Amino acid sequence: MKRILITGGPGMLGTALVREWTGRAILFPVGITQFDLRDAAAVGDAVRRLAPQWIIHTAAFTAVDLAESSVEECTAVNDRGTAHVAVAAAACGANLVYVSTDYVFDGTKGAPYREDDPTNPINVYGRTKLAGEAHARGVPGHLVVRTQGLFSRGGKSFVSAILGAATAGRAISVVDDVTTGVTFAEDLAHGIRLLVEAGATGTYHVSNTGAVVWADFARAVLDEAGRADVPVARTSAAATGRAAKRPPFSALDGAKYAATVGAPMPAWRDALRRCLKDPAARTGA
Ligand SMILES: NC(=O)c1ccc[n+]([C@@H]2O[C@H](COP(=O)([O-])OP(=O)(O)OC[C@H]3O[C@@H](n4cnc5c(N)ncnc54)[C@H](OP(=O)(O)O)[C@@H]3O)[C@@H](O)[C@H]2O)c1
Repeated sequence: MKRILITGGPGMLGTALVREWTGRAILFPVGITQFDLRDAAAVGDAVRRLAPQWIIHTAAFTAVDLAESSVEECTAVNDRGTAHVAVAAAACGANLVYVSTDYVFDGTKGAPYREDDPTNPINVYGRTKLAGEAHARGVPGHLVVRTQGLFSRGGKSFVSAILGAATAGRAISVVDDVTTGVTFAEDLAHGIRLLVEAGATGTYHVSNTGAVVWADFARAVLDEAGRADVPVARTSAAATGRAAKRPPFSALDGAKYAATVGAPMPAWRDALRRCLKDPAARTGA
């Protein structure tokens, strides 16, 4: 069995990856307490000691708005932290999967982004994740997986936030001028395993199939959860006053993924239904 180190083990994607690989690999899911990305020596020591054949690097500074006022912290984790992981992976001969984001694009293309489209991040988080991609590409056998709009069962995700607000009777207001793709963390974890098993290298776009406006996604979450009674007010990105700009259209084109593994990612509505079968997701816990 492969030895796989998963950074960000307790995070949304890390948790799904552990579920996906359990029984199929020897897993070392590490959180910030055992493995602080900012500490090159600690990262190098842990990788040498655990001797993984693969590192799946999901850990990141993911607070997109906070990143605008925390440039140094975000850079230390997403840019330099990824460099530490890449150097350690190369030194022990491990392959590296780096999880990146649609926010490497500016959102002006007006059609789903392909892997070779020019990047042009418009916020701090996107710039630091793009810098991380460059470090990952320095590792022989690297795989850069760009994804977007992750949601999961329970925990901290858009789906649980919407359902939590509905349960608490709070007003729900969501942007209707930003189009994205969304991704069930379990489907992404499965997609990453299929790519690894197919021996894929290079850059891949992996998200559930289909573009969606955020307000429509919120509507779908409530409808699928049996809360058609709860209204979704529609607002604009400008009106939210959020610190970080978002690309207005950042759906990712999954054709390369589908050609490599032999099937496209599941459609987002189907993924949402499967997510909501879990009681934790339904209650917004
Ligand atoms: N969420 C999305 O919509 C989305 C979209 C596109 C791409 N991505 C990318 O997908 C990956 C997984 O995202 P996610 O939503 O699963 O993230 P998440 O739930 O926020 O988890 C991130 C993990 O990184 C850890 N971490 C943060 N700073 C660290 C440090 N200095 N050293 C070590 N670990 C650190 C966190 O630990 P603590 O919990 O202790 O802070 C957490 O376990 C990330 O690389 C992200 O950039 C996410």
